[in-house]
Amino acid sequence: MTRVDVEARLAELASEAATCTACRLSEGRTQAVFADGSPDADIMFIGEGPGFYEDREGLPFVGKAGMLLNRLLGEVGLNRRDVYIANVVKCRPPGNRDPRPDEIEACKHFLVEQIRMVDPAVVMTMGNFATKLLLKTSTGITRTRGTVFPWWGRVVIPTFHPAAALRSGPAMADTIRGDLELAVRTADDRLAGPEPEGERSGLTDPEAEPPKQLGLFG
Ligand code: URA
Repeated sequence: MTRVDVEARLAELASEAATCTACRLSEGRTQAVFADGSPDADIMFIGEGPGFYEDREGLPFVGKAGMLLNRLLGEVGLNRRDVYIANVVKCRPPGNRDPRPDEIEACKHFLVEQIRMVDPAVVMTMGNFATKLLLKTSTGITRTRGTVFPWWGRVVIPTFHPAAALRSGPAMADTIRGDLELAVRTADDRLAGPEPEGERSGLTDPEAEPPKQLGLFG
């Protein structure tokens, strides 16, 4: 697929999300929040769902958690424009409550297609919702973070959600920074090395078997 094709498909998905009524979250949204950043990104970040400011502006991570994320990205030499940022659910849960399983299920196809289109070397899941969804695990973020999980021909590296670091304090922000450094190193290594035979086709090949230990979410 050319970059033009990828951008066209992402734009098509974004307009689908904008009018989606597949779950109750559509009732309270100002607008759907599809993504921000580059479709060419080597690292993709996945948060939980839009909050107040995201719902108002139509972009992910533009509130306080977003400011912390931007700062930490800068500290590891990344720019928000060069990564791709999306959420598990595209519409704001009322009062910033947790997204419910049926809402995540209804929205999941957008995320699957975003990952498939952007085709990042590294997916960084931020917090429990994104991590549990992708890794199909019930293990909490404290135990999964900072680990490189092979996932459908790429890798998933979980980290804490920046909002948790805002509540918890600077030590958690330091931990996220360390996990971001790991993501940068891992992406560099993967992009420098030979592409593993057939490995990256996991998401695009419907016949491909998910890795035994993880598997595609869904
Ligand atoms: N928290 C998230 O998980 N996503 C956003 O876009 C903003 C805050």
